[in-house]
This record gives sequence, structure tokens and C-alpha cells, in this order.
Amino acid sequence: MISTYEPALKKIRHYSANACLLPICSLYGAAVTTVEGVGSTKTRVHPVQERLAKCHGSQCGFCTPGMVMSIYTLLRNHPEPTSEQMIAALAGNLCRCTGYRPILDACKTFCKESICCQRKTNEKCCLDQEDDLFDKEEKVSTRLFSTDEFQPLDPTQELIFPPELMRMAENQPKRTLFFHGERMTWISPVSLDELLDLKATYPKAPLLVGNTSVGPEMKFRGMFHPIVIAPARIPDLNMVKCTDDGLTLGAACSLSLVKDILTNAMAEFPEEKTKVFSAVLQQLRTLGGEQIRNIASLGGNIVSRKSTSDLNPILAAVSVQQVLLSDAYMSAGYSLLSDLAQGEYVSAFRQAPRRENALPVTNAGMRVIFEEGTDTIKDLSIFYGGAVSTTVCAKQTCRTLIGRHWNKQMLDEACRLVFKEIALPGSDNGETVDYKKTLIVSFFYRFFLEVSQSLKTMDPCHYPGIPMEYRSVLQDFKTKMPQSIQIYQDIELSQSPQDPVGRPIMHQSGIKHATGEAVYIDDLPSVDGELFLAVVTSSRAHAKIVSIDTSEALKGPGVFDIITAHDVPATNEFYYSDDPEIIFARNKVICVGQIVCAVVADSDDHAKQAAAKVKIEYEVLEPVILTIEEAIQHNSFFAPKRKLEQGNVDRAFETVDNIIEGEIRIGGQEHFYMETQSVLVVPKGEDNEMDVYVSTQLKLVLQEMVAASLGVPANRIMCHVKRVGGAFGGKLLKAGLLASVAAVAANKTSRAVRLILSRGDDMLITGGRHPFIGKYKVGFMNDGRIRAVDAKYYINAGCTPDESVLVAEVSLLKMDNAYKIPNLRCWAYACKTNLPSNTAFRGFGFPQSALVTETWITGVADKIGLSPEKIREINMYKENEQTHFKQKLDPQNLIRCWNECMEKSAYYSRKTAVNEFNKQNYWKKKGIAIVPMKFPFGLGTRYLSQAAALVHIYTDGSVLLTHGGIEMGQGIHTKMIQVASRELNIPMSCIHFCETSTTTVPNACASVGSAGTDVNGMAVKDACQTLLKRLQPIINKNPKGTWNDWIKEAFEQSVSLSATGYFRGYNENMDWEKGEGQPFTYFLYGAACSEVEINCLTGDHKNLRTDIVMDIGCSINPAVDIGQIEGAFVQGIGLYTMEELKYSPEGVLYTRGPDQYKIPAVCDIPEQFSVSLLSSSQNPYAIYASKGIGEAGLFLGCSVFFALRDAVTRVRNERGLKKTFTLNSPLTAEQIWANCADDFAEMVIGSWEEGSV
Ligand SMILES: Cc1cc2nc3c(=O)[nH]c(=O)nc-3n(C[C@H](O)[C@H](O)[C@H](O)COP(=O)(O)OP(=O)(O)OC[C@H]3O[C@@H](n4cnc5c(N)ncnc54)[C@H](O)[C@@H]3O)c2cc1C
Ligand code: FES
Repeated sequence: MISTYEPALKKIRHYSANACLLPICSLYGAAVTTVEGVGSTKTRVHPVQERLAKCHGSQCGFCTPGMVMSIYTLLRNHPEPTSEQMIAALAGNLCRCTGYRPILDACKTFCKESICCQRKTNEKCCLDQEDDLFDKEEKVSTRLFSTDEFQPLDPTQELIFPPELMRMAENQPKRTLFFHGERMTWISPVSLDELLDLKATYPKAPLLVGNTSVGPEMKFRGMFHPIVIAPARIPDLNMVKCTDDGLTLGAACSLSLVKDILTNAMAEFPEEKTKVFSAVLQQLRTLGGEQIRNIASLGGNIVSRKSTSDLNPILAAVSVQQVLLSDAYMSAGYSLLSDLAQGEYVSAFRQAPRRENALPVTNAGMRVIFEEGTDTIKDLSIFYGGAVSTTVCAKQTCRTLIGRHWNKQMLDEACRLVFKEIALPGSDNGETVDYKKTLIVSFFYRFFLEVSQSLKTMDPCHYPGIPMEYRSVLQDFKTKMPQSIQIYQDIELSQSPQDPVGRPIMHQSGIKHATGEAVYIDDLPSVDGELFLAVVTSSRAHAKIVSIDTSEALKGPGVFDIITAHDVPATNEFYYSDDPEIIFARNKVICVGQIVCAVVADSDDHAKQAAAKVKIEYEVLEPVILTIEEAIQHNSFFAPKRKLEQGNVDRAFETVDNIIEGEIRIGGQEHFYMETQSVLVVPKGEDNEMDVYVSTQLKLVLQEMVAASLGVPANRIMCHVKRVGGAFGGKLLKAGLLASVAAVAANKTSRAVRLILSRGDDMLITGGRHPFIGKYKVGFMNDGRIRAVDAKYYINAGCTPDESVLVAEVSLLKMDNAYKIPNLRCWAYACKTNLPSNTAFRGFGFPQSALVTETWITGVADKIGLSPEKIREINMYKENEQTHFKQKLDPQNLIRCWNECMEKSAYYSRKTAVNEFNKQNYWKKKGIAIVPMKFPFGLGTRYLSQAAALVHIYTDGSVLLTHGGIEMGQGIHTKMIQVASRELNIPMSCIHFCETSTTTVPNACASVGSAGTDVNGMAVKDACQTLLKRLQPIINKNPKGTWNDWIKEAFEQSVSLSATGYFRGYNENMDWEKGEGQPFTYFLYGAACSEVEINCLTGDHKNLRTDIVMDIGCSINPAVDIGQIEGAFVQGIGLYTMEELKYSPEGVLYTRGPDQYKIPAVCDIPEQFSVSLLSSSQNPYAIYASKGIGEAGLFLGCSVFFALRDAVTRVRNERGLKKTFTLNSPLTAEQIWANCADDFAEMVIGSWEEGSV
């Protein structure tokens, strides 16, 4: 939070900002409060920190300080905010773990409004629904936290603005400031004259205000400015003049300030005077996030965002006047006229890949003036942004239409003219132009509808307005504070109050996450002589390395050395299968983003600057294989190919009534863990020992890789993992390779080496979820029974095997999802391509192959005219049966989940309501879908699920616990402490967890596949039981003694107070030759129902409601488990509806940061979100009858995909479009739009023939 004092107004302004974009020089005279300053465990934890933690709003904790600061800043300005303000404050924050619901729950406790939904759904308010739950036999709970525990928020206790800064602002005359850095000079003038002089002296120096445009250019695109001029302190550039004629705003005014001023003006002036303000505000509400708007300036937006400014089209349309400073293109301010003539209308539109905090695909500003008292166009302005490199005006169109009546003939012509006039160049960054073209037309259409409706309001006798069913499209989707409910089975009344198992216990590090005390790799204090490492990566997908020229790089300041494959003392290539995993490319590169060499320098900046100077010459090799199709064409696969078959598929196809064939493509997904890959390697100086502090899920292999690369035994490499800021499968082998890069550098330089990948490098280098193609042929009867399936799955593995074959296998094993298919044949191929190597990702192949299954289920439904849910019910596993690899399963809980989800979501009545809505709305449609899930749990072989724990009891009775599991947000340490607490019968507060390390628990398997709690829980239980057995004679002798008495006595009797625990792993196996086995130990079940609304004009959509029912056995910690379900579900929404990786034809990843790659934000979660855990579910195979839950929920995100499909189907049916169609994933706005119509533009015009205006 930045706080500044304005002496003239005697006002302090607090605002949040993105630290990464904020130049330190811009903070002269400002007070900066970071999360550490808000509160700490050593002083006092602030209510925001406390509530965020206690409401379970942190999982990995990496995003938590940012969340705290956004909420805290809002509360400093508005101690009792509205929920609208709260939602807006969080629009610029991202969380990859929680799915936002628990964060919003914490926020709601500060809002002044009731937390009830304020409206009745199915005649019931959310709070009534809660009451109903308690009528049932089973005792369920809906409380995951207790507000009674919360400290009140007391604004008088906040830090005050530093008086010395206030005095400085009041007393010190303003003078020009100069700050000189190593390479840059920052000049901050205080008058316009000075500014003009400076600009004359340094014509190339940019004016820097918020740095949100220049900053990213310098940070990510190699732009460098030796001198920058920061004019924000010049009073004239901050002017705000409000007169009857309008507003004049200084160019340096922040966009937030502009937003506030316009909002106030809207309240102050009559409606006819504020139409322009309203249109500008419309854009400002979704422009960036609050942190961006707080620092980004009006002038900066207008000048720098040539094509993507959301303001320029509307400002141009309303002819905003620029107050120019000089002939040089410098602007002092802008005048916005408030008075519109009678019969004048303005509007602004935008469409972006995500509704909030995303640059627009296209936007527009439009204005029309009619001859007085008529609908004859006197003047028309149409401006578009995002179309070409600057804001463009459809001049010709406007000129042609002057004098025309505002009717459908005019519209028809306008659409055609605009279409012709705004010529779009071909795409150069993966964007398709068709979508933009259609948006250009549909924005005008939308304007037409708006104005037509306004004309009717003005004069209902002459103007009929627009048809009723068109009206809803005039309302944009808005983000509302979501309402949610979580239902879980309460503990038995007989359970001891001290026993924490089954209770919603806060994450063990929750408070530390919120105070910023939790330590991640980059927080570790620097080690003496430490070096920073930056990697140099290949820019070619497949090429021979001809030469590497490091001469320029070595001359860079602070550069210590450059590390290549030649510096690896032992193993550079690791063979886990036929093809190797590679640390440094040696002679050739096999993907863009492969590490060729690395620079070590005395700072991160120096290392990166030098890395950019390494010159590599390549000779391109053929073939370059990027896509699955190209891999098939070149027969390029990683072995083995896998197949599963049951029944007689060919014969079954001969006897079925119908056959459909199809194909679906599912895009890859970036892990986007908040903590990028990070490692600090510290050589200890003797016996080749090294401490490796690393963000990984797999210490065992990482330790092996580092040891093998250095040629030392594994016992010299000590790996330490305190916590991981998110992983989702992305920190397995990839983390091992990166740790080896750092270790080789540390070995060569004998210095500590820190490697923290930038987001861009992380996305470029490490791969993600496999892009997938599923081809299927399905045979079924007229009554909906599916008799035969023949499917082929192709996954794009990238350039090295990693775990791709395993992912392919799992996709086969789990492809049946919830259905019994008597005759089935499926194949899986891991395609070897020249993309970065893909790897494990939550769900591990299941989210893709099960989506293929659900797609052909809907295909069958379409074909025979039954609903998808009927086809699902008909084919669902119903009694004790066998899977397609002959593993037994009891689907009772699958059916229960399905039925409960049907009931809780009131599926059929809502489906009727959706039908009704769709009849009454033409451009907006709703869709609803319910999807079942069977998620098999297991890792395929016994040794992968072995686990160990180590428990020490100290003489003061305190317990130190460790085990092999890694904490990456899933709350494993919290659960393990719960287990130890129950077993030892002591409070959780007596038990501490320090870190996971190879020195305490060796050979720990990866924390993957939802298995962490299952296997480590067994090991912890074992260790605790061993200790308790040893203590039992002492306890028996003194049953009334305390824990401390017994421990003291045990010590005095020389009873060992340290024990290891071990779990051998699950007896799992799979015989791929025979195609049968028991690769899984048990099954989780679930069902999700989602409802959505789409805007057919833009493809935009809103997630209205989701109800999830999950069978996860007896939850050890319902808060953690529900958090996992919701977080995974929202990640699934990302996978299936938003997240899109784009590559150049040469294999360069375009989407390399949050700017281009959109993960779900607060605006994307369902407005109503309910999660229920199936009650009375037991699981004999896992600790305390629980079930591993980390991954399963992700697939349920596809209920949103199918709800969207339902909405699109309804559009297509209504418009008489082709019945069969395939939707690929992600189902983005562009895809939705494209499938609503083959040629939308034509349709817009065509539909007018039937229009009633
Ligand atoms: C994460 C993120 C999300 C964003 N989302 C959106 C969005 O949704 N919609 C949108 O429209 N924009 C968006 N933006 C862009 C943002 O609005 C602009 O970057 C911002 O307004 C620029 O203002 P600034 O003060 O930060 O400019 P700076 O980076 O400080 O300067 C920008 C440029 O403007 C010039 N300039 C500044 N003031 C003047 C002046 N008075 N006269 C002449 N030239 C001047 C400078 O010389 C410089 O070249 C986003 C940016 C980020 C980083
Ligand atoms: S808790 Fe938000 S990113 Fe992990």
C-alpha cells in the first residue's frame, strides 16, 4: 500500500499497487506499507490477516500477502466496504489454489451488507437452505470457521502516516529531483516549463507516470531508457476542473482518480449530463485491476496504448479535447464535455479474454446525434480499438449514414460498410481475425439496439424499440459477490474435544502466509558470496548448435562465469526411458526454451542482462514436429504405445442401431503455480556436501539427479523443502533438472547459487498439461445404451519423455469415467514433438480422456434426441461391476452423488427455468449440465506409494514431526499434525513440523496423485503408535499423569523417544500385456451441476451456479478438503473454458505471462457455489476412512464446459444451424461465438429480416 499526503487538501491517499511495476524513485515522499507492516505473529496479527487465515483463504500462501494488502488498503479507505467495492479490490489479484471462495468469505466478514444471498432461489434463501439441512438424519455442518473468534477491526489502531513525511510535504519547497542509478537517471520536474526544457534536452526520454506501459516494455521486451522524465509532481498535470461545461482532468491523474471523479459526477449531475461519463466509466470498471488503475495515468493510457486503450475509442467518439502542452506531443490534460445535445447517444463496448483485468480483444466507442425530434442521423462517430495498431475511425461509414433513419435498413448497410472499411491485417500472435471482425459488427449492432430502445423511451408513439427478447443483451455481465455454501458431515458427539480429526482446522501456516512470515526459496536470506543464475534458452525448435559466443556476456558487469554442458562433471543426460531428460543442450536443441547455458553473476539483473548477450548460432534441422498431426505423420512417438480392450468391439458395432464418429481437441494448460521454479544451492565446502533448498514435489529424484550430475553419492546432497508455493504436478522432473543446472554452477564456482525463474522463462521452459486429441467411434442403441467404443488418444508429449507415457496410460485407465461400456477398445500414444517437454498436471490425463468420453455422451444424446443426463444415467455403472481392465468397483456412492447433486441443484426445475429464459431471450441464452465422476485413486505400483515418517518427542513433551510429503498448499502438514495429535492424544499445539528433508526421511516418493495424506498419514500413525506402545507401560503405571510426566519418566527409564514410521504402499499392479490388473486401490465419486449464461453477440459468458457433491470418505479436515475441491474445480474451469496456450508456427510460445495467459480470477467463479461432501461414506483402505482428494475436483470443471455446450446447442437449434458440431477445449469466448453461428456477421444482418424494429 502506498500512502501519500496532499498538503493543499490536507488529505492522505492510500492505494494498492503492483510492486513489480512501481519504480522506487516514484515513491519519494510516500509511505509504503507491506504485509509485514500490517501485522505479525511477533506483534499483533491484523484482523485482515487473521480472518484470511481462519477462513481458510490461503493454501500454498504465495498469493496471500497480495490478498491481504488489497483488502487492507480498501479497509483503510472504507472501513465498512460494500461487497461491490470488495470484489473490485480483488479483481487484480490472482490465486491458483483456492478458487477464491474462502478468500471472499473472509472479505464478507468486513462488508456491511448481510452475507445472505438477498434473494430467493427456488423460494429459498441460502440461509434457509442451511436450516433445512439440519432436519435430516445425519448431522451435517456448514461452518468452516467461527466469526466469534475474530478480533474486531478497529480503524483507530492502524499505522499513522509518518509525521516527518507530512512535514516534508508541507514545508519543503518542491524542487526538481534527480536520481542516478547504475544505468539510468530519473528526473522529476515540478513545473511545466521545466518539463518542456527537459523534453527539449532529452527528446528521446519517455514521460513516466505509472510505468505500467513503459515498465513492461523495459522488463520483458528489452527496451532501455537511460533517462526518464517523471512529471507526476507537476500540479498542472494533476488538475481536476469541474464546471457546468464538463470536466478537465490532468494527464497525470490516475485512472482510479478519474473513475472516482466520474462516479461522483454521476451522482451529482442529472442523467442527461452524465452519459459521456457513464460510457467512460463503463470501460474504467474493467480496465486492468485496481492496482493498475491506481498508478496508471490517463495521459499514459491515451498516449501509450495505441491499439489496446479502452479509453481512446470512447474519448475519440465523444471528441474529448486534448489540452496540449507544446508542439511536441505532450498532453497536459483532457476535457470531457458533460452536456450532450438532445437526441445524442454515446456508448462504449469491450470484449476481452477475461472479463476483468485483461487487455481487450476489441473495443469500441460510438456516438450518434439525431436531427432534433427525429431519428435522422445528423452526426455519427464510430471508433474501434484492438483492430489495428491504433484506434481507428469508421469515417466512411459514418459519413455515408448521415441523413439516414435509425432503422433496420440503416443497420444492414452500416454493418456491411463497417465490415468493409475496417480492414484487419492477418494475425501475427496467434489471434484470429474473424472474431475481431465479428465483434466490430456486433458492437455496432449492440449500439443500434441500445439507441433504438432509448428512442422508444423518448418517444414511444413513434419508435417501437426493440423486441422484448432482445433486451437482455443490453445488460453486460457483472461480477457480484458470490454466495456459497459448504456442507460436510459433522464429527460424532462422542469424539474427544481435543481430537482434531474431522474438524475444519486452519492451515498450519495460514497465519504466517497472511503475515508474510512464511519463507519461500526467494525469501531465504542471502548466503555469503552468493551468485544469481539466469538461463539462456534455445530460440529454435530443432537445430544443431553451431557455436555459442559468450564473449559479450562475460564482459557484463558482475558476471562471474558461464556454465554449459561441458561444465557438468558427470551426468548431463538422464535415461529413465529410451530418450533422455537433458540438463544442458550439448550439440543440438530439440525445442524452443531448452536450456543451452547459464550465466552466474552477482545479481539477478546482471545475470539476466548478460544472458541476453549470449549469441548462439544454429543450423536448423528437419523435421520440426510441433503438432500431434505432424507427429502422427512422422510416426514420432515415445514407446510404448498402450492399448486396452474388452468385449468384442467389431461385432458390437455390427449390431448397434447407430454409430457416431468424432474428434475433440483439448489444449494444454500451464501450471501457473504462483511460486515459479526456484532453488538455492549452497556448497558446504567439504566432502562435496551441498544443501539444496528447493521448490519441488519430488526430493528423491531431485537428489538423485543433482548427485548424478555432479558425480557424487546421494548422501552428500541434502534437499530441504519448507513449503512450495504451488506445484500441481509441475515440480517433479523439471525441478530436478533446474536444481542440477544450479548445482553444476555452484560446483564450478564453489559459491552458493540461486535460480529463480521469471514467469516468462518458467512458462517457456517447463511445459505443462499435455495437449490432447481424442478420436472416437461410438455404437449405441436407439434407447441410449452404448454398446461399443473405439477410441484413440494422442497426447503431445513434447521433446522428452518425462512422465508422458504414464499420462497416456492413466488416460486409458480412467477413460470410462462413470460408465460401463461392454465393448471397448482404446489406444493411447505419447507424441514426440519439438515443443517443450510436457509433464504431470493435476488429474494426470484423466481430465482429458474423460472430457472425450463426456463429449461422445453428448454426441449420442444429440443423435437420438434424448438429454445428455439421460444418456449418462442409462450408461452409468450401477451395481458391483468390473472396469475395462477387470478391477472391481462398487458404484453405490457414484449413484448417491449423482442423485444428491440432482436434488441439491434442483436440476429439473432449473432446466425448465433455463428453457423458459431461453424462449424469452434471443441474444442471451442459458445452459445447464450435470456430469458424474468416478476418480480412481492409486499410483499403479506398490513402491510409488511407500512412505515414511519420523517423530521425535523432546524431554519438555514437545513433538517434532516430519514425513516424506511436501507441503504445496494441500495442507498435508496440517493433516499430519491432526493425525499425530489423535494418535498421541495430545493437542496439536504440542506438535511442530519444521521441514521435509532428505536428511530426516530418505527416499520419499513424490507428493502426487492425491496420495500424500493417505500414505504419509499411515506412516505418521505407525511412528506415533510405536512411540505410544513404548510409553504405554509408563502410562498404565500412572494413568492420571500428564503427557509431560510420562515423557519425563520415559526419558529417565531410557525409553527411546524417537521413532520412524513406515507404510509399504498399496498393493497395486497393472499387466499391460493382458490389459488387466488392480492399478487403483479405491474410487472417489462425485457429480457437478453448472449453469451458465452466454452472450451470443460476443461469446462472453457468466458462470451462474455450480453445485458439487463429492464422496471423499470421512474427511480428516473438511476445510482443507473442500478447499481442494473448489480450487481444483476452478482450475478445471480454467482448463476447459479459458486457458489457451498459443505458439508461433516455429514453435515459440506466445503466451508467456499473465498478460497473455488468463487463469480464472474472482470474476470467473460461479455466482452461487455449493460443495457438499457425501455423508456416511467409509473407505477401508485409507487413514481414518478418508480418501485422497487433491486432483478429482478438477474434472468437474467440465460441467461448465457442458453447460456452455448446452447453451450453444440451444442457440443452434433455435437458429436452425447444423445439428452435429464439436466443441474443442478451451471453450473460450471466441469458440462460443464461432459455434453460435457459422457466419455471424451474415446472421446479424440476416436476422433483421425477421426483426421487429
Ligand atoms: C496488468 C495491466 C493490465 C492493463 N489492462 C488494461 C486494460 O484492460 N485496458 C486498457 O486500456 N489498458 C490496460 N492497461 C494499460 C494501462 O492502462 C496503461 O499502461 C496506462 O494507462 C499507462 O499509463 P502510465 O501512467 O502507467 O504510463 P507510463 O508507462 O508511465 O507511460 C506511458 C507512455 O505514455 C507517455 N505519456 C505519459 N504521459 C504523457 C503526457 N502527459 N503526454 C504525452 N505522453 C505521455 C509516456 O511518454 C510513455 O511513453 C493495463 C496495463 C497493465 C500493466
Ligand atoms: S493460496 Fe493463492 S496461489 Fe496458492
